[in-house]
Amino acid sequence: MPAAPTLDLLDPGAFEGGQPHAAFAWLRDNDPVHWHEEPDGPGFWAVTRYEDVKQVGHGAGTFSSARGIMIPDASGALEGEGAPRMMISMDAPGHKDFRRLAGPDFIPTAVREMGPRIAALAARIIDGVIERGECDLVADVAGLMPSYVIAEMLGIPLADGVALYDLTETIHSTPDPEHPEAAMLAVIEMLQYAHGVWEERRAAPRDDLSTKLAHAVVDGEPLSELDFGMYFLLLVDAGGDTTRNLVSTGTLALLEHPEQLALVRGDLDGRLNTAIEELLRWVSPVVYMRRTATQATVLGDKQIAEGDKVVMYYGSANRDPRAFSDPEVLDVTRWPNEHLAFGGGGPHFCLGAHLGRSEIQAMLRQILTRLEGLRIAGEPEWLRSNFISGVKQMPVAFTPGARITA
Ligand code: HEM
Repeated sequence: MPAAPTLDLLDPGAFEGGQPHAAFAWLRDNDPVHWHEEPDGPGFWAVTRYEDVKQVGHGAGTFSSARGIMIPDASGALEGEGAPRMMISMDAPGHKDFRRLAGPDFIPTAVREMGPRIAALAARIIDGVIERGECDLVADVAGLMPSYVIAEMLGIPLADGVALYDLTETIHSTPDPEHPEAAMLAVIEMLQYAHGVWEERRAAPRDDLSTKLAHAVVDGEPLSELDFGMYFLLLVDAGGDTTRNLVSTGTLALLEHPEQLALVRGDLDGRLNTAIEELLRWVSPVVYMRRTATQATVLGDKQIAEGDKVVMYYGSANRDPRAFSDPEVLDVTRWPNEHLAFGGGGPHFCLGAHLGRSEIQAMLRQILTRLEGLRIAGEPEWLRSNFISGVKQMPVAFTPGARITA
């Protein structure tokens, strides 16, 4: 086996400037199910090939979500009897019971109905910057869309959606040694906000998703206030920086590949959808999801023991030449494009995939048609995270234009 490149998939620094594609390529070719040491834990299997990631995603009976979806193990308070429940870290049958509560609001017909509203929000977001001729494409444009949309679905003011989304940024950020408690305080603040919504909707039902969840019944029991809070947190959290990063980092990729940008701009109606799938493959905003083996099993050429942590690297699967021709080429006309950006399939496949696509489409349509002469105006700053990939700041400039909404 050739010498391994320097490889530390736990180091957030390894993800600055994009995912470590050279290291992933080496792993796919030489050690596709790779044992990775963990200084403060037992270690984990890093799964980097497309077919193996799909096997883990689909194999929910063998690969459990209930022991955590991040590499570090959750602290004791988050496990066992009475611990807060969240669909993303639940197994069957509870997972299905939880997922069906919000499920109908995320199916294609429901998302299609929201289309005009999402388009109007996108126009309004661009109106907020277009007269200035410059902005931060992440905070001023891409980040607003998911927070507005989930706020509307939950029936809370748009400004509150933005404030809650800022809390999720703190929850996701790599712990700051000077404020190690910041993430926990942000969770508490989010749950306090959710508590207020829960009380209001219990007392006075409305026509929104918060009301459905506040009055939901699982297994004959009303959803507890804590379960409601965790559900609320997941919905705000899961669609936020993922969608944001796709729009901002996807725009960056197009600006870095002007011939691809010209192709999309040349036939927006014909090519925007294939371009979005290609940008999802290219950016892969979620770096990984973890599972835990519930029994001894075989993955690739490795024996996995019961209790082993198994980590699916979506960004690597999406550049696997065994699944995509010329995977290192950005091709906005690529079709078919069975990328794994929304997960490897199976019961946890992204609930918000249709919604995310709709938001991305509305936002990119506005960015590509209204921000004339769009260009990078300063070095984009990448997230230091081994979990979520993308730029967190991206100064851009363009020709000032006119607002189109009141
Ligand atoms: C570009 C945008 C997005 C990407 C790349 C993305 C990616 C993912 C991935 C990789 C998973 C885990 C799949 C698995 O473990 O098998 C996931 C789960 C999830 N996503 Fe998304 N997501 C996006 C947008 C959204 C949006 C807009 C929402 C809406 C609120 C959302 C809600 C969820 C939820 C609730 C889950 C957990 C589903 C479950 O456990 O059953 N996501 N997403």
